[in-house]
Amino acid sequence: MRIYITKDYNEMSRKAANIISAQIILKPDSVLGLATGSTPLGIYKQLSEWYMKGDLDFSEVITVNLDEYRGLAPDCEESYAYYMKQNLFDKVNIKPENTHLPDGRIMNPEEACRLYNELLIKTGIQDLQLLGLGRNGHIGFNEPSDIFAKDVHCVELSQSTVDANKKFFASGKSVPSHAYTMGIRSILRAKRILVIASGEDKADAVNKVFFGEVTPYVPGSILQLHDDVILVCDEGAFSKCK
Ligand code: GLP
Repeated sequence: MRIYITKDYNEMSRKAANIISAQIILKPDSVLGLATGSTPLGIYKQLSEWYMKGDLDFSEVITVNLDEYRGLAPDCEESYAYYMKQNLFDKVNIKPENTHLPDGRIMNPEEACRLYNELLIKTGIQDLQLLGLGRNGHIGFNEPSDIFAKDVHCVELSQSTVDANKKFFASGKSVPSHAYTMGIRSILRAKRILVIASGEDKADAVNKVFFGEVTPYVPGSILQLHDDVILVCDEGAFSKCK
């Protein structure tokens, strides 16, 4: 594993955006696994700026997102499909048909997961998978559990995840109870994994994920078994690591 510790959030975003843009420049038709949440926002802003300056071309890039809320359509402002359009896809020259997320409109979990599993196989393995960390060490929406779920599956969100994600929902709207997410095998098959974390409230998660026991109770800890992981985090997020 390679670790880059940055001074702050902005430096973390720039460093991670650099790694992603190098991937696109070296392989213009890269398959990128993408993440949502507040942490990647600075990265997407930086990538959009580099595209505007003419330094990056997304015309051949293919993307597969980690997860989506069950029950939210892509035009719903709280959906991850909407987030991706707002923060990246509408700002660069990526082809809409090359961007993929689980379909939150499908309420039948078996069907939604089967379709996204099939799509992931069709698009091919991720050249680079971007990952944020939940405060409980979750990756995608793989919540702490007795087992590592392998493929795309439907999860019931833990209370801490619901609470953490409330900030993205307008008042009066509640966070859906379930989400569709890539499983551990879908994530680990990526050739390279780029993990980002910022701030002291992620310090416990970073320490447990990278330096603790490998256990499904800390889902991200499985990343210790992947041979090409890059962690880019700021000093706050690294503050509990020895
Ligand atoms: C959600 C997403 C995760 C993300 C996590 C952390 O639960 N499903 O993919 O990593 O939030 O989000 P944030 O970056 O807002 O802390």
